[in-house]
Amino acid sequence: DWIMGDYIAEAVAKIKAQVGDEEVILGLSGGVDSSVAAALIHRAIGDQLTCVFVDHGLLRLNEGDLVMDMFAGRLHVNVIRVDATNQFMGHLNGVSDPEAKRKIIGREFVEVFKTEAAKLKAGTGGHKGATFLAQGTIYPDVIESGGAKSKKAVTIKSHHNVGGLPEQLGLKLLEPLRDLFKDEVRELGVALGLPADMVYRHPFPGPGLGVRILGEVKQEYADLLRRADAIFIEELRNTKDEATGKTWYELTSQAFTVFLPVKSVGVMGDGRTYDYVVALRAVITSDFMTAHWAELPYALLGRVSNRIINEVRGINRVVYDVSGKPPATIEWE
Ligand code: XMP
Repeated sequence: DWIMGDYIAEAVAKIKAQVGDEEVILGLSGGVDSSVAAALIHRAIGDQLTCVFVDHGLLRLNEGDLVMDMFAGRLHVNVIRVDATNQFMGHLNGVSDPEAKRKIIGREFVEVFKTEAAKLKAGTGGHKGATFLAQGTIYPDVIESGGAKSKKAVTIKSHHNVGGLPEQLGLKLLEPLRDLFKDEVRELGVALGLPADMVYRHPFPGPGLGVRILGEVKQEYADLLRRADAIFIEELRNTKDEATGKTWYELTSQAFTVFLPVKSVGVMGDGRTYDYVVALRAVITSDFMTAHWAELPYALLGRVSNRIINEVRGINRVVYDVSGKPPATIEWE
């Protein structure tokens, strides 16, 4: 609509004025905020923007390709894709404590990003060198970083984000979404041409599948989990609730699959199986501080279970998590 059109024109003018003919780096995660920030900054300064997309090997099925197709392919944004899977898997090898895993993933993420940012700052291949670091900080992040410390005495889970990076890298900060609420960021994304299903995606944690594989992270587990989770999400997107006309993906706030590194006995054809278990988690919440487990239709749960067990060799049992938050958290780690 025209109001959003005006907003975009104004935001673009502001970015142009702030950046001038300098160059900007942005860490693109595939999440809503960094995606919308990238689209907006690209609209303003085109090739003066370079995005760095770090694939830690703990992303959802085909995520890396989807991000590249969208940004590099469709929007013609400069994107450097860094496949750091081996590095992350190496550092996670033998580590099973949830907080230790989070710390490792957060630390390595910053390391990889810093290395790429330093190269871009130095300037390469026709680029004179970046002077700005852009971040998809939104208004609730601004408030949270001001008051969160006093509110919460105990850290239940350390969230990884990139605080303090601009200073460490000696780059100026560009935060074009600072004044916007999440809903406004989503509207802006759609107005900038990002597909609605990308902009209205459920949240995905920074440590990714690292906190959805219980205990030690292994490549084999990540591969099984990715395939099982893709089936769950596909069925949620394809199943409508008759009463509301909405899909179950839309009706839930967050839904995902958790890999349990335990084996149970099953039967397939004439044979016995001894394979892994996955848990499905779907919650309804307005603020993610408390949450109800979603009352998904049994038929939907049954279809997801059948498909996962039939299509993902190595998983022979699917369970549904019926725990609220509190006392359970949304993620299992
Ligand atoms: P919990 O599990 O604490 O999760 O109930 C609440 C919300 O936060 C997300 N979450 C994270 N997001 N980095 C993130 O960016 C993290 O380390 C992280 N841990 C949890 C979780 O997916 C849910 O939406």
